[in-house]
Amino acid sequence: PRVALVFGGRSSEHAISVSTAGSVLRAIDRDKYDVLPIGITHEGRWALTSDEPARMAITDGKLPDVAHVAEGVDGQVALPVAPGDREVVLTEPGSAPKALGEVDVVFPLLHGPWGEDGTLQGLLELSGVPYVGNGVLASAAGMDKEFAKRILASHGLDVGRYTIVRPRDWETEAGRAAVRERAAELGLPLFVKPCRAGSSIGITKVKDLADLDAAIEEARRHDPKLIIEAGVTGREIECGVLEFEDGPRASVAGEILVGEGFDFYDFEAKYIDSSDVKIPADLTAGELAEIQRQAVEAFEALGCEGLARVDFFLLEDGTWMINEINTMPGFTPISAFPKMWEASGVSYPELIDRLLATALR
Ligand code: DAL
Ligand code: MG
Repeated sequence: PRVALVFGGRSSEHAISVSTAGSVLRAIDRDKYDVLPIGITHEGRWALTSDEPARMAITDGKLPDVAHVAEGVDGQVALPVAPGDREVVLTEPGSAPKALGEVDVVFPLLHGPWGEDGTLQGLLELSGVPYVGNGVLASAAGMDKEFAKRILASHGLDVGRYTIVRPRDWETEAGRAAVRERAAELGLPLFVKPCRAGSSIGITKVKDLADLDAAIEEARRHDPKLIIEAGVTGREIECGVLEFEDGPRASVAGEILVGEGFDFYDFEAKYIDSSDVKIPADLTAGELAEIQRQAVEAFEALGCEGLARVDFFLLEDGTWMINEINTMPGFTPISAFPKMWEASGVSYPELIDRLLATALR
């Protein structure tokens, strides 16, 4: 089958998506799959790129970029919009559109808004091209921390205490005062986050309310809608969910061990410095069974398809709290999802194979 790998994108997680695509390009079975790599630039241009993973990694703290792997950034690649049409077309300034051949399936390796949030999925639904992973609703709900929490909480899952800051809430002095009051009621520390983003970008841990406004302004650079969460004490543990023929199954768990000197698992700690994910996490059989049960429950609650990674805190009282769900988890060399599946008996190439097979089913 011919696979269009779509990566990069307009979100702040662009570089992580490029790194994810590099890892997938390394692992995918080239004898079985013919890969058409399509990078989306920061500006949103779809470009034909190299299929060489070499320049797609995070190296010495330097972030990769679609512009650096694009073959012709001037050209624009388009997927079909008409149902039944599978032909991908390249248009370059001054020349006639060039057919790039048909694709059987799209692998949207995009993180964050305009890719992991149902927008690209909507385009693919319109065109009728099969694609890997979650559909429109699960993607949109998973991307928005407010709606994800509402749905998960309605299934009896613990999502912690939080308050939402809507765009208008921060526009007047009275609104800002009300936000500060709501935040203060949650206690300290607080985590101020863009409501729709990922990879910890735009997140600040607030330990003193005097720093709240600055944290809100920082998060608002990424999304006008924010979430302020009460900090919790506990172990940060993740679990992968993968769809098999007979339904979703959970992987072994992985525990985040935040690198020395980091206050929380922020972008630097995740991708630049030496944080570790301990796989499998040290859990009792009962604890593992419970995180796996809740991870699958979260997957079902959002109507997920294909895959998801569910991130938890194991609280001091022994109960689990869901931090968030990722509908296109990272596949970078340090990412937990493929490693957790490897430790569960599904190798990286098999994982990719399964995701594509599920999409093509
Ligand atoms: N949002 C990043 C890519 C992750 O969850 O792995
Ligand atoms: Mg995330």
